[in-house]
Amino acid sequence: MKTVDAYKVDRGSKVLLNANESYKNLPKHIIEEIKEGIEEVLFNRYPDSSANLLTKTYAKAFNVSEDNVMFGNGSDEMLGLIIGLNIKEGRKLYTLNPDFSMYDYYTSFHQGTVLKYPIDNFDVDKFIQNGKENNVSMVIFSNPNNPRGSLISKEDIFKILSSFNDIPVVVDEAYGEFCDCSMVDEINNYSNLYVTKTLSKAYGVAGIRLGMILSNKDNINVLRSMKVPYNVNSVTQFIGIKILEHKDELDVYSKEIIERRDEFYNELVKRDYKDLIIYPSYANFIYFKSNLKGELINNLESNGISIRSFNDDSFRITIGSEKEMEDVLEIIDDTFGR
Ligand SMILES: Cc1ncc(COP(=O)(O)O)c(C=O)c1O
Repeated sequence: MKTVDAYKVDRGSKVLLNANESYKNLPKHIIEEIKEGIEEVLFNRYPDSSANLLTKTYAKAFNVSEDNVMFGNGSDEMLGLIIGLNIKEGRKLYTLNPDFSMYDYYTSFHQGTVLKYPIDNFDVDKFIQNGKENNVSMVIFSNPNNPRGSLISKEDIFKILSSFNDIPVVVDEAYGEFCDCSMVDEINNYSNLYVTKTLSKAYGVAGIRLGMILSNKDNINVLRSMKVPYNVNSVTQFIGIKILEHKDELDVYSKEIIERRDEFYNELVKRDYKDLIIYPSYANFIYFKSNLKGELINNLESNGISIRSFNDDSFRITIGSEKEMEDVLEIIDDTFGR
């Protein structure tokens, strides 16, 4: 194995490939539009608690009914809300292993327990059987899965929805734009289906904290009555509207990331490093396992690149700019001894 001492990346600031954010800020002209319009925001008043204009704009941009969507301070808030409404002491939340860690956080906050089904070789019938035997109160999983990047098929989700038809099934689509896969079209066909989405990932505005939950009208009405007032601040509502007005332009970003992800993945698979297990991904990141993880992370860190490391031998790399991915590839090559 070669060392990476000679490797130099000219970089002023740290490259963050650890949180599945967009690597670039909004286009200048959208920032200009935000600057111009922000004077209209009534900073002295509480925000519109029902986020009317934002809801209308979202409904138009995504071709859904205004009755089917509600906004939160990130989709995180919506996950916390729906978990809080369904989980309490003695109740079980059913998810996958691994999956998004906030499900555990909210469940333990509400004194519930988490039951996890292994994602490896996922078998939907066994998943359902296990959930039934354990009398779970709610099903939730991210799709594509964070951190794996894997996808549960629509067909399997239909089975899950029908089998657990008396409890909520939440499909967390934080990364849904990177696979062009969504259950949103089904929200009026299954009374127990909830879908959460976010502007933090594909729309590149993690900083404004804006996420949503979609479901049928009755479910959304219940959630609206339970949410805290003024949960989405006026500045976020205003910027959210601007983002949605530019949806088509911003959608190009996720297409670019999908291409770069697939190129990066293919390059790595081609190399066939025996110490590196690469997981196929439908999201804006790739999950790996390696017994050389520590070495790779040190080499990345010494070049100013931060990735996400998990407790075992696994790690996750967010897809960044072309240059960033070239650098990462070069460091992987150096570490794994090309
Ligand atoms: C699977 C998953 N769901 C939800 C979220 C939360 O996103 P938001 O920024 O909308 O709160 C994340 C953030 O990393 C995530 O990975």
